[in-house]
Amino acid sequence: MIEEMTTVLEPSPLSDFVETKYIKDVANRALSYIKAGFPVHFRGVSGSGKTTLAMHIASKIKRPVVMIHGDEEFTTSDLVGGEHGYRFRKVVDRFISRVLKTEEDMVKRWVDNRLTIACKYGFTLIYDEFTRSRPEANNILLSILQEKMMDLPVGRGGEDPYLKVDPDFTAIFTSNPEEYAGVHRSQDALRDRMITMDLDYFDYDTELAITMAKSKLSKSQAEIIVNIVRGLRESGKCEFAPTVRGCIMIAKTLKVEHITPSKSHGFTQMCQDILASETSRVGSKTNQARVKEVVKGLVAKELGKRKTLDVEPSAKKETEAEKELSVVGAVES
Ligand SMILES: Nc1ncnc2c1ncn2[C@@H]1O[C@H](COP(=O)(O)OP(=O)(O)OP(=O)(O)O)[C@@H](O)[C@H]1O
Ligand SMILES: [Mg+2]
Repeated sequence: MIEEMTTVLEPSPLSDFVETKYIKDVANRALSYIKAGFPVHFRGVSGSGKTTLAMHIASKIKRPVVMIHGDEEFTTSDLVGGEHGYRFRKVVDRFISRVLKTEEDMVKRWVDNRLTIACKYGFTLIYDEFTRSRPEANNILLSILQEKMMDLPVGRGGEDPYLKVDPDFTAIFTSNPEEYAGVHRSQDALRDRMITMDLDYFDYDTELAITMAKSKLSKSQAEIIVNIVRGLRESGKCEFAPTVRGCIMIAKTLKVEHITPSKSHGFTQMCQDILASETSRVGSKTNQARVKEVVKGLVAKELGKRKTLDVEPSAKKETEAEKELSVVGAVES
């Protein structure tokens, strides 16, 4: 097997992947654009599921996957390849243990990087957060996406400086909106060569399904968490709105601690810690205090609606708790 193949991922379905109506709809639309030969670009706020969706789609394409994460420091050669090959040899004499001979030599050897590999073998490229790389580093993509031709730097081991892109090559891009820190404005010419799909926060059912799938909490418990997080998001009181990651963090912590949502100080504090951390960039005290106050109100409101349970010392008890919560939910609805 070629050495460069080490950076290639197998296209396998993701565990815990949730496919609700919303996800299926976005995925199917993206797959039809890809089938028609166009690269797809998922753009959206943090936590809107761009990377997960890109990986899911790549697994549906069933070709090996090459992943690149955008980086401010990238140059074109980080994407395409370059000349590497500094060799360092150590010779140890087995008979006279004090003898240690070192040899160093320079062997210039072209090493293809991920983008070249994907183009050459017709793999699926996921270029995650591509606008974090500087636009000039991404210029190489213009001819790849349009002319299906890759313009390689000279000195590539005597090979043709133009590489014809394999027809199976597919590209999926993701990016955060331009107002995010560390994000460059994408070139118009590049954006024009891809189909951009804007993703927003998940709808209620998807957010709930993801929270349950990731934490294995019951529906009634996950609902409480999702309602609190969505309530905070809709309050408009945060520097950054909380995402599904907040739901997952709270749900997973509850699960490992074997506790169920309750009006106890512990649950409120956990929600406050997680959500204040998720929604503030610089940790400003006033912002955090405001968020914590809103979260406190939301926890009280959410749990006031239901009969709640306190700390569960064991997983067995938790099952009973779940039953009770479901019963309460059933009576309410
Ligand atoms: N369809 C899904 N099924 C299961 N989990 C999902 C799904 N979509 C997203 N998630 C989970 O939601 C969280 C956020 O998703 P993801 O990382 O894909 O968002 P993103 O838009 O790429 O965020 P960022 O801009 O911060 O990179 C992750 O923990 C991910 O595992
Ligand atoms: Mg991402």
